[in-house]
Amino acid sequence: MSRIAYVNGRYLPHGGAEMHIEDRATQFSDGVYEVIAVLGGRLIDRALHHERLERSLGEMRIAAPMGRAALDAVLDEVVRRNRVAEGIVYLQIGRGRAPRNHAFPVGVRPSVVVTARRARPATAAALTEGVAVITVPDLRWRRRDIKSVSLLANVLAKQAAAEAGAYEAWQVDDRGLVTEGAQSNAWIVDTDGTILTRPESSDILSGITRRRLIGLARGSGLAVAERAFTPDHARRAREAFLTSTSSFVVPVIRIDDHPVANGKPGSTTERLRSLYLDFASRTAA
Ligand code: PDD
Repeated sequence: MSRIAYVNGRYLPHGGAEMHIEDRATQFSDGVYEVIAVLGGRLIDRALHHERLERSLGEMRIAAPMGRAALDAVLDEVVRRNRVAEGIVYLQIGRGRAPRNHAFPVGVRPSVVVTARRARPATAAALTEGVAVITVPDLRWRRRDIKSVSLLANVLAKQAAAEAGAYEAWQVDDRGLVTEGAQSNAWIVDTDGTILTRPESSDILSGITRRRLIGLARGSGLAVAERAFTPDHARRAREAFLTSTSSFVVPVIRIDDHPVANGKPGSTTERLRSLYLDFASRTAA
């Protein structure tokens, strides 16, 4: 089956789907994106993704190219045309196409790209067994709350993880505190059982999975504190894990070659993972 992509109003064969060379998303990373998980052919936490997208667009002063309902229709159509039951849908909105000039162009239309693909990392057995992470200095700009397509530091961090045989890289700020992964949020379960993750600020992306999981954890009586931690604290913690749209909740069992606790996935992480999976399969729409 051939894949189909949506590009600026048209559904095109994926292989030949192209953007203009002077689209500002390619020349300046002048664009934002969302990755939304698909389960049973439906989207998980669609409204929260809309909310974050609108915030990113607002911070970048890019006009929304269409309303929520129209965008939903495109997202659903791309998922349908690609017959994605389980996977992800990717949405990118750029400021538009204009002759190269740093300041905003006047009167351009935002560019819109939507792709979807099948993937099963979220339910893959390998991930339930736990993954290794490495730590790297956080080299990114200071507006990590905007989900911009400017991902060069994240790419380098993830490549360093791949070369080290690790699944993810946890980025560490100048104060020695973990900010987040290259494409996920970072968490630990402290020795007293409290679940810790870095508070929302411009230091991190406000992950949708993170936000949802905080609510689910508190709703089932677990203590969550939004507090930053160091890699050393994480290694001495009871458990560590990461969250993202593409992998849900994944146990972290090694950090820079040191085991976390006994080096096995912990029971709190396992509980959170099933809480999330249960939520996702009940509410995907
Ligand atoms: N990454 N932090 C960063 C830097 C991310 O890129 C992501 C998501 C997250 C987790 O956010 P969410 O729970 O909303 O997926 C945190 C996406 C999946 C990606 O770029 O592939």
